[in-house]
Amino acid sequence: MALLIRNADIVTVGSRVRADILAENEAITRIGKDLEAPPNAEIIDATGKLVFPGFIDPHVHIFLPFMATFAKDTHETASIAALIGGTTTYIEMCCPNRNDDALEGYQLWKSKAEGKSACDYAFHMSVTKFVKETESQLRQVVADGTASFKIFLAYKNFFGVDDGELYQTLELAKRLGVIVTAHCENAELVARLQQKLLAEGKTGPEWHEPSRPESVEAEGTGRFATFLENTAATGYVVHLSCEKALLAALAAKSRGVKIHVESVLPHFLLDKSYAERPGVEGMKHVMSPPLRAKHNQSALWSALALGSIDTFGTDHCPFDTEQKLLGKDSFVNIPNGIPGIEDRVNLLYTHGVKRGRLDLDRFVDAASTRAAKLFGLFPRKGTIAVGSDADLVVYETSFRGVVSAKTQHVNNDYNGFEGMEIEGRPSVVTVRGKVQVRDGKFIGERGRGKMLKREAIYL
Ligand code: URP
Ligand code: ZN
Ligand code: ZN
Repeated sequence: MALLIRNADIVTVGSRVRADILAENEAITRIGKDLEAPPNAEIIDATGKLVFPGFIDPHVHIFLPFMATFAKDTHETASIAALIGGTTTYIEMCCPNRNDDALEGYQLWKSKAEGKSACDYAFHMSVTKFVKETESQLRQVVADGTASFKIFLAYKNFFGVDDGELYQTLELAKRLGVIVTAHCENAELVARLQQKLLAEGKTGPEWHEPSRPESVEAEGTGRFATFLENTAATGYVVHLSCEKALLAALAAKSRGVKIHVESVLPHFLLDKSYAERPGVEGMKHVMSPPLRAKHNQSALWSALALGSIDTFGTDHCPFDTEQKLLGKDSFVNIPNGIPGIEDRVNLLYTHGVKRGRLDLDRFVDAASTRAAKLFGLFPRKGTIAVGSDADLVVYETSFRGVVSAKTQHVNNDYNGFEGMEIEGRPSVVTVRGKVQVRDGKFIGERGRGKMLKREAIYL
């Protein structure tokens, strides 16, 4: 069935126009004034609302065996939460660990999503070891349309790679034309500092940040950049949390290293005092890199506004209260992660656009278009143009609400952003021309989501 959105105030990067949008057979077929509705078209009046391209979250964890447990969401719950919050595509980290076979892991991650997600999705393929079969396995993964890798410089002996494996991964990525995303913290320093703090009897969640200080992240970021520089590969730092690491990335950018930067929702709105709250309240705010001293937030906001932080993701990774309590005797056992897939867009709109930190153009770019461009999804995703998928977010700027675990769709019993006010939310969200969300309710087709096959674009 066709979909006609009338009187849309269309916001894309570099343009703002008032027009109607016609979608047929999943794609946008016309944009213009007073378009005629085909017979049986569904008509949505967007008068007074902004219309954005579907938002893209470039960094989520849905199926994740990690820290002696599993992240709580399924693709059913995560995709519905994503859509209600305006995210129509997410890129999940496929994370087999060092002891797993990479290809078996890839098939397992795919099987968890297939037929389950209500929105479109793709994967970043983690490289958690580099052994004899790795090159041929990664070639198969890229040929299957997963044209981005992920490496961890943290999580020693689990996801983490050593410098030799880092080099081999980047060298292969360069030959394959694939971008490499990286969690940048020095695993050895983290392990040493954790042991030192525990030996001093420092076991609570407030010691998580001191066990992985800013310098440890800056070192990881700088080292990743140096390896990119010497392999000529293209890289993307995930969930950058602090000014020191930002400076390391920007210094590399300024000497021509092909490095891009993502920061994520928790680091803009939460600071380390949240993880210093007593007991499980602190544990709920443990993630890595950790929540930082508040002064870092202004550096992140400025860099986001300028575009030197390219993308705004979530690192969505839900563990519930009971799971967080696995770390009640030692902060090193607290499952790392803070969910945010449902609230990312509304909180960015509220704290970015409404508070005057971001213009609308950068808002759309950081939360949608830039990720589409970096990860080979553009112009199918990340814009509103004839030929693009009809993933559209009709956004109600007059909406007022409050983030709460009581009303969320993420499968978790708390929300790290509990009580924060939002000034705007999607009133209609479409995936390839089908209305999936109306006024905060999922009314669409479960399992509509497709895996997005991506080409290697860095050749
Ligand atoms: O704390 C985090 N970030 N949990 C998810 C795993 C990762 O490092 O991205
Ligand atoms: Zn990470
Ligand atoms: Zn992550």
